[in-house]
Amino acid sequence: KLRIAVFASGNGSNFQALVDAVRHEKLDVSIELLVCDKPAARVVERAAEAGVDTFLFKPKDYPSREAYETEILAELVRRDVQLVVLAGYMRIITPVLVEAYEGRMINIHPSLLPAFPGVNAIRQALDHGVKVTGVSVHFVDGGLDSGPIIAQRAVEIADGDTESSLAERIHAVEQALLPHVVQLIAHGRVAVEGRHVRVG
Ligand code: GAR
Repeated sequence: KLRIAVFASGNGSNFQALVDAVRHEKLDVSIELLVCDKPAARVVERAAEAGVDTFLFKPKDYPSREAYETEILAELVRRDVQLVVLAGYMRIITPVLVEAYEGRMINIHPSLLPAFPGVNAIRQALDHGVKVTGVSVHFVDGGLDSGPIIAQRAVEIADGDTESSLAERIHAVEQALLPHVVQLIAHGRVAVEGRHVRVG
């Protein structure tokens, strides 16, 4: 089974979707580790409930991003992690992790990239007045939400949508798409050729 680690900073609904998919035998991976930068985050409780080990760290305890990422990398290597899934991990990733996991690290983002990268993508889409936004899952490269796109789903914006009503629909789409994409990777069905990702 593919050995994965999930990085998350907050609620962890995407982490939970992966845990549930494994539990219901819809996802053939082994979740080896949660990596979290926020000790009070709900996702930490979710990992404890699911029996998943957690690597918790406080960025302020380290002199640099590279310093904590070097520790994270050692933990990933020690556990023989083969795929890293960023699921609401709200920190910039440096070359320490990007280069070690090139082609083996994915991120879920709540917009149709390359529209609305970075933080507050749902708010950005509403403020921009677009009629369609969505969800993207992509490989992580050195840029901000810029790597090769594996899968996307559209979500329509209705008149009168608020940030919370739209977020609710986007999150529901994310929780279906992320386990689906991880399963494709686990089954060896995802190939990258430059910017283009082919699903066979
Ligand atoms: C998700 O909507 C995810 O796409 C987003 O954070 C949320 C985390 O929710 N990620 C980003 O915005 C990354 N730039 P969750 O903690 O409930 O999974």
